[in-house]
Amino acid sequence: MYMVIMMKHNVKIAPSLLAADFANLQRDVAAVESAGADYLHLDVMDGVFVPNISFGAPVIAALRPHTKLFFDVHLMITDPIRYIADFVKAGADSITIHYESCENQIEVLEAIRAAGCKAAVSIKPATPAFVLEPLLPYVDMILVMTVEPGFGGQKFMPETMPNTESISRMIRAGGYDIEIQVDGGITAANAALPASHGATVFVAGSAVFKAEDPAAAIRDIRHAAEEVLPE
Ligand code: DX5
Ligand code: ZN
Repeated sequence: MYMVIMMKHNVKIAPSLLAADFANLQRDVAAVESAGADYLHLDVMDGVFVPNISFGAPVIAALRPHTKLFFDVHLMITDPIRYIADFVKAGADSITIHYESCENQIEVLEAIRAAGCKAAVSIKPATPAFVLEPLLPYVDMILVMTVEPGFGGQKFMPETMPNTESISRMIRAGGYDIEIQVDGGITAANAALPASHGATVFVAGSAVFKAEDPAAAIRDIRHAAEEVLPE
């Protein structure tokens, strides 16, 4: 007799630093930490993989001594293997690479884990979920982009939900312990949708950092997602 073991994950909220006040990063990180954030999502953009430049390892290293938050580093950069050591040294707890950013994803994911970090892979909205199947043994998390990567403040794309659902099925079918993260345009008003398709980690930039009350914003996204999580 076989038993299907379901991996239980709690909902985690990951405010994206991209929406913080760049002149007051230390203050804004402290604010979301005391507001109940689980992760700090750090969007690194190189102006090549995406048409925008954000910040790099030195900014992450500068923040590291000022917070206990889990550093969830999202690399939107071409050929990320070149910089893995730098981001590990800067204090990353988890590093996400883009499937579309390199040729040998397994090599990069193995390098991230070998350095003692959690490893994750992300797909853009147009990339089909099935490409991730060979990568499942090498990742702790899969990030489904719910907007085109590059900019904060965009509108959530519900058409990314079939991919989220397929990934969720693939993870269950293989018996893997892998979390699904969604990123882009997430608010308390729409978080239930990705949660119902298997997402447990919710990135929110504008919805948290631009909120009058970040603690309420985090609580509302968490509640919206928790309501639809299976028992
Ligand atoms: C987009 C980034 C996201 C973005 C989220 O390329 O990966 O993390 O900052 O910001 P909001 O929640 O404002 O869409
Ligand atoms: Zn991101």
